[in-house]
Amino acid sequence: MADNIQPKHILVVHGPNLNMLGRREPEHYGNLTLAEIDRTLSTKAAALGLHISTFQSNHEGEIVETLQGAVGRIQGLIINPAAYTHTSVAIRDAVLLLAVPTIEVHLSNIHKREAFRQRSFIADIATAQISGLGASGYVFALEALARLDT
Ligand code: DQA
Repeated sequence: MADNIQPKHILVVHGPNLNMLGRREPEHYGNLTLAEIDRTLSTKAAALGLHISTFQSNHEGEIVETLQGAVGRIQGLIINPAAYTHTSVAIRDAVLLLAVPTIEVHLSNIHKREAFRQRSFIADIATAQISGLGASGYVFALEALARLDT
């Protein structure tokens, strides 16, 4: 029955140094703070009828533990692993464990930057990657997850 349908729960994970948004290389990452981005996402999620949780950490293990803790509890993941995108097998394995539609988001277009940023340990296991659209990329990711059948 439609009345019994639970809202989809989406987890948004932000990796290292994203807590410094607003003060960090604005030519790459824009002027919005992480709190402003998360507020926009909460508003958008409410409008889309989604339940959302957001999490940021500078520590790889904390990100892994948060992903592990979400197993069986979420229906979609938005993740900007930041620098760990290019290095972390552990985060890749935790995303695989979740087995939910996953959108990898980058504020900057990693494919137009240094060669080491062009390799992602997440891209080939993600549903999609949004890279280079600034903070709007997170909003587009949320809209996409709202539309996907899960
Ligand atoms: C980033 C790109 C990464 O290469 C970088 O290490 C970041 C942010 C982005 O959102 O564009 O911290 O993930």
